[in-house]
Amino acid sequence: MEFNDVIDRRHTVRSFKDIDVSMEQIKRIIDAGIKAPSNNHLREIEFIVIKDKERIKEVIKKIPKTQSPKRVEFIMNSWKLKDEVQIKMYQDSIPKQYSMLCDANVLLIPLFKNKKNILEPKSLSDLNGFASMWCSIENIFLATTNENLGYALRIPFKNEIEYLNEVLEIPKDYVIPCYIAIGHKDDNENIEQVKVNFEDKIHFDRW
Ligand SMILES: Cc1cc2nc3c(=O)[nH]c(=O)nc-3n(C[C@H](O)[C@H](O)[C@H](O)COP(=O)(O)O)c2cc1C
Repeated sequence: MEFNDVIDRRHTVRSFKDIDVSMEQIKRIIDAGIKAPSNNHLREIEFIVIKDKERIKEVIKKIPKTQSPKRVEFIMNSWKLKDEVQIKMYQDSIPKQYSMLCDANVLLIPLFKNKKNILEPKSLSDLNGFASMWCSIENIFLATTNENLGYALRIPFKNEIEYLNEVLEIPKDYVIPCYIAIGHKDDNENIEQVKVNFEDKIHFDRW
């Protein structure tokens, strides 16, 4: 795929077909993640790959399996959202937080080595490890798109993080920033992205 096509075609996918993702594809995707820039030159990131359905279910079991339409409405009302395209995205995504990870062919858990307390940073540079991890995650998303595959991500809640550390036997100095689901996109899914006017986002010389 051409680079600009990859950029244009990347989007979040939360419904997957039950088709295998090959280990060659997974390796190419992770290789792209490892090649991202890292703050201290050391690329202190790791990845756990899980393909076995029962193991995936065990790892994601703290996520609510579904949310009733009433609960979704309650959550959305509390956020006071106004943008129609954004509202549609959340109406689709809130109930799919479990199924998108369960139905994807691969559950990928990225990790980075954490030397600072990223929840109480004293300066922006305390977040460098976290920022490097997200550079890597974006490479993963683009490489996934380049394989004609789809992906979804979820930020774990506190109770999920505690459980993930235990069930995945994570060393104390590593942090899991998100779950990533990778699989073949369900063609019926079509969540519109918010369109922004390019000209409105650029400022020359000052704001
Ligand atoms: C930092 C970050 C956190 C996100 N957290 C979640 C999440 O917890 N669950 C989810 O389904 N999507 C999550 N997303 C995906 C966004 O909802 C998605 O990127 C956004 O709606 C834009 O859609 P697009 O990725 O198709 O451009 C997250 C994205 C980012 C960048």
